[in-house]
Amino acid sequence: MTYQQAIEPEYPKPLTHQENEDLARVGPGTVMGEYLRRFWHPVVRAAKLEPNGAPVRIRLLGELFVTYRTKSNRIGFLRERCPHRGASLALAHNSGEGLRCLFHGWKIGVGGKVEQVPTEPPACAAKFAEGVKVRHYPVREAGGLIWAFVGEGIEPPEFPDYEFNSLPEDQIDIRVGLFHCNWVQGMEAVLDSAHLGQLHRSSFKETFFTGGKEVREAQVQRLIEAPAPSFEFDVTPFGFREAAIRDLSDGRKQGNLRMFAAPYYSFLPGSSRQSDDRTICISVPFDDEWAAQYFLTYNTHQPIDQQASKERWRYTDPDPDNFAAGLGDVSNLWGQNRDAMQAGHATGFIGRHSFHEDFIIQESMGPITDRTQDNLGSSDTIIDLTRRTLLKAAYALRDGSTEIWGQKSAGDFDYAGIRGNARVIPANTDWRDIDPFEDVEPVFLATS
Ligand code: FES
Ligand SMILES: [Fe+2]
Repeated sequence: MTYQQAIEPEYPKPLTHQENEDLARVGPGTVMGEYLRRFWHPVVRAAKLEPNGAPVRIRLLGELFVTYRTKSNRIGFLRERCPHRGASLALAHNSGEGLRCLFHGWKIGVGGKVEQVPTEPPACAAKFAEGVKVRHYPVREAGGLIWAFVGEGIEPPEFPDYEFNSLPEDQIDIRVGLFHCNWVQGMEAVLDSAHLGQLHRSSFKETFFTGGKEVREAQVQRLIEAPAPSFEFDVTPFGFREAAIRDLSDGRKQGNLRMFAAPYYSFLPGSSRQSDDRTICISVPFDDEWAAQYFLTYNTHQPIDQQASKERWRYTDPDPDNFAAGLGDVSNLWGQNRDAMQAGHATGFIGRHSFHEDFIIQESMGPITDRTQDNLGSSDTIIDLTRRTLLKAAYALRDGSTEIWGQKSAGDFDYAGIRGNARVIPANTDWRDIDPFEDVEPVFLATS
């Protein structure tokens, strides 16, 4: 590094208009949409699908589907549009191991074939049914979630067996939040640790952390007082690793090691004690202007402590499928209370969770933020890295590459070996060599 570079570091550049469009849009035929269609996606909490229960309408990557569970526990996942003339199959009867459309009674079996066509003469109904193509897709249940693969005419890749995907449901706690803006905005807020001591200065005293009020207040104090970390990154076949490194007062170094798994998983730098809960955030696009974030807390050793879960999710809507219900919108400025701000509250969003504050900020940028207007600083390096590595992967696929960033075609890795971590980095150790499965005492500030 030259002296000039040291005093004038090179700051990340904003995206061009075309790059911003390519990053954000997810419909069929878009650059990012085609990349995302190469992945398995979580589409709904598994518990939402009851045997023989109502089909659930799914928006994913700008397209509409339904999913349902049959009496014998098989899962169906297909286009919402009835293959006959387009009635919504979300309205259909769920019976006899398939869906029966309300309009003319066509029956589509869970295997993805039209099985009965009562509107055709019996003599030719079977032959007619055989000729109808049903757009039915590969679907899986794992980790308390229903997963689907909606790439057309493409073989699904290996299922991502992240460590939570092999746990029983009582060791997983899932809350989903819906927000009205582009999925990348949601993901950027989760990856951005520079805002924690600002935006969440007040809400962290009451939400997010478990362990009681005193623990929370101490965490906030540490956040405010902590020296700015230096960040290091390592792009890998599965995504990238981020180390936020801080000097501790006793001369040691603390590393908050986050894993990002493409296309949208953030493994938060949680506790390095094996028996503790750890959390990941999955940002799934519904379409260009709506997305869901799945906050999935899991414990590899024991059932989730329900009391701790309640504490973690204080001030959120109890609906596990939308903890952000009733958040408001720009027309009422999300119910911001200026008097509370005068009295010292960081945001004026009283009785709200820190994740609500994130959603409000993301939505306040508009449905698709204009990244050409950004002025990025050194703390935005991870944001820039995320944007550019995703774009690079999507452009590579468009240009014919067979290596898909985030999958085994890009290089060997173990999905189950991906885990965030917060710990003291032993002397003379490169953080890249740290084993995230080693059982050591956690260090403070496991959030950035
Ligand atoms: S539209 Fe579904 S059976 Fe006619
Ligand atoms: Fe946040």
